[in-house]
Amino acid sequence: MFGFRYFTPTKVVFGKETEYQVADLIREFGGTKVLIHYGGGSVIRSGLLSRVTKVLDEAGIAYITLGGAVPNPHLTLVYEGIELCRKEGVDFLLAVGGGSAIDSAKAIGYGLANEGDVWDFYDYKRKAKGCMPLGVILTIAATGSEMSDSSVITKEEGWVKRGYSSDYSRPKFAILNPELTMTLPDYQTACGCTDIMMHTMERYFTNGGNMEITDALAEGLLRTVKEQAKILAKDPNNYNARAEVMWAGSLAHNGLTGCGNDGGDWMTHKLEHELGGLYDVAHGAGLAAIWGSWARYVYKNCLPRFKRFAINVMGVANEGTDEEIALRGIEAVEDFYREIKMPTNLRELGVKATEEDLVLMAHKCAVGVGGEMGLARKLNEQDMLAIYRMSM
Ligand code: NZQ
Ligand code: ZN
Repeated sequence: MFGFRYFTPTKVVFGKETEYQVADLIREFGGTKVLIHYGGGSVIRSGLLSRVTKVLDEAGIAYITLGGAVPNPHLTLVYEGIELCRKEGVDFLLAVGGGSAIDSAKAIGYGLANEGDVWDFYDYKRKAKGCMPLGVILTIAATGSEMSDSSVITKEEGWVKRGYSSDYSRPKFAILNPELTMTLPDYQTACGCTDIMMHTMERYFTNGGNMEITDALAEGLLRTVKEQAKILAKDPNNYNARAEVMWAGSLAHNGLTGCGNDGGDWMTHKLEHELGGLYDVAHGAGLAAIWGSWARYVYKNCLPRFKRFAINVMGVANEGTDEEIALRGIEAVEDFYREIKMPTNLRELGVKATEEDLVLMAHKCAVGVGGEMGLARKLNEQDMLAIYRMSM
């Protein structure tokens, strides 16, 4: 077991109609002029944006709005947001939406609190010294960005998708009303559940430092999301299932399920980010399409964890060799993906990649991680290419 730092400064306000508390929360954290940042328009169609602006109007809090954060959010809009906020004297950012709107807001926040080109942080050229305070009203349970320290941005030139993490960007508050997720398309709900589970699985499949308490939290979270995802596939308006998944999403990526271990593997995410950058696929679906190939490639190097996962999370019988049990666990995950209509390879994801594309993605991925990465098994560029080939 390793020592760790656990820092989750986000005030969580959870439950029905909690969005009506947004003005009080902005005031509590010192906001006087707000940028409301959102995505492609779901918050307009659902009526959420007009509810939020009404609350701010009534409270006398000044605001401007900027929509247009696309899934795999773009750097160009981040630049636009920074300029707009500077011109308008904004001192607080409010992301209303999913991971894309939140991450875009975090990047705008970095741009406002630091000199120079904000992309430098995502390009690992220098570290941020601050971020403008932000709050979140979440509309999709998925990335955990509402409590996490990371944001992921795509630079359109070269379609480079990169993440940057620092505690500065952890939101001041997160309003979590599970009812707001009921307008999601089923596909996005399933993508979200996949992503939530993957944030915990990335931390679980490692070779060092595991703590029993962390494993118990992780396994409980994984079993819960697996069961609730199946319920939501049949009954999308089930409030309790929406609530379980939403809270799990925040806990899966706020650091809780990694305390004491060696930091986690994260290679499924890195391999997916190349897919997201190049083919603009939904993040959760991309993860599902890669995971089985990654798992089969690495499981022998992390066998005790794959065995434990198979038994404790996927309910596989403790019979046969460790390898057999581990492989049955991997198959059970793929069966689960099929049940919630997630892809299990690139073909099912709808990606028609050529051999050159796979070589390019493996190369960009290797450059992005600084050569090699992975704790279940360390992967280099050739390993990454082999996994992309397996996932075709
Ligand atoms: O853009 P709008 O119109 O809002 O529609 C969105 C979008 O099309 C829609 N949606 C969201 N809430 C809805 C809704 N539609 C109807 N009703 C609602 N209540 O769903 C689609 C997906 O939204 P998006 O914000 O893109 O999803 P998600 O939360 O999965 O975010 C994905 C992005 O986050 C990054 C991913 O790589 C990707 O770029 N990640 C961020 C992380 C972080 N900051 O900690 C960690 C993750 O691992 C991930 O990499
Ligand atoms: Zn993710």
